[in-house]
Amino acid sequence: MSNASCAWDLGVANHRGVNMALHKIRVTVNGSTEMVEVPSNTTLLQMLRERLVLTGTKNGCAAGECGACTVIMNREPVNSCMVLAVECDGADITTVEGLAHDGQLDLLQQAIIEQGGVQCGFCTPGILISARALLDRNPHPSDHEIREALIGNLCRCTGYLRIIDAVKQAADAVAGGAR
Ligand code: FES
Ligand code: FES
Repeated sequence: MSNASCAWDLGVANHRGVNMALHKIRVTVNGSTEMVEVPSNTTLLQMLRERLVLTGTKNGCAAGECGACTVIMNREPVNSCMVLAVECDGADITTVEGLAHDGQLDLLQQAIIEQGGVQCGFCTPGILISARALLDRNPHPSDHEIREALIGNLCRCTGYLRIIDAVKQAADAVAGGAR
């Protein structure tokens, strides 16, 4: 986490006109190291969307309830609306933009398309990230483990079954030697 020496005394005013200290943080996002100056009250979600223009991560509830803003932080899925950017100093972050490599979709992205697990798509980035974090730590999850991993990701459209089938398809592909 950023220490006090990184904070500037002069900052920016928040919506109540109170000066917020600015902090310089160093964060690796999708393999690229960035130096960013953020006010104390900026969330990781705001930093990703507004400063780094990574708008794949969605703002659903801004209250830790819907999972639309899920990113991987130091190998763990987190609700980025509930993490302050200053807490990310030195962190490694993966967003949905970081899933595809060399123009190839991640197995999960391919599977969710093939299984029809996307309708409006608003929940999809968060679901893909939660599922990626699951497969990274447990490449052969049971149905129960898949449901448990996605419990914090709300979807209003699909009824979840096709999403779960997509995660199972990707897990099967991993078991068959795919990455
Ligand atoms: Fe973060 Fe809903 S936007 S949990
Ligand atoms: Fe619309 Fe999930 S596809 S909320």
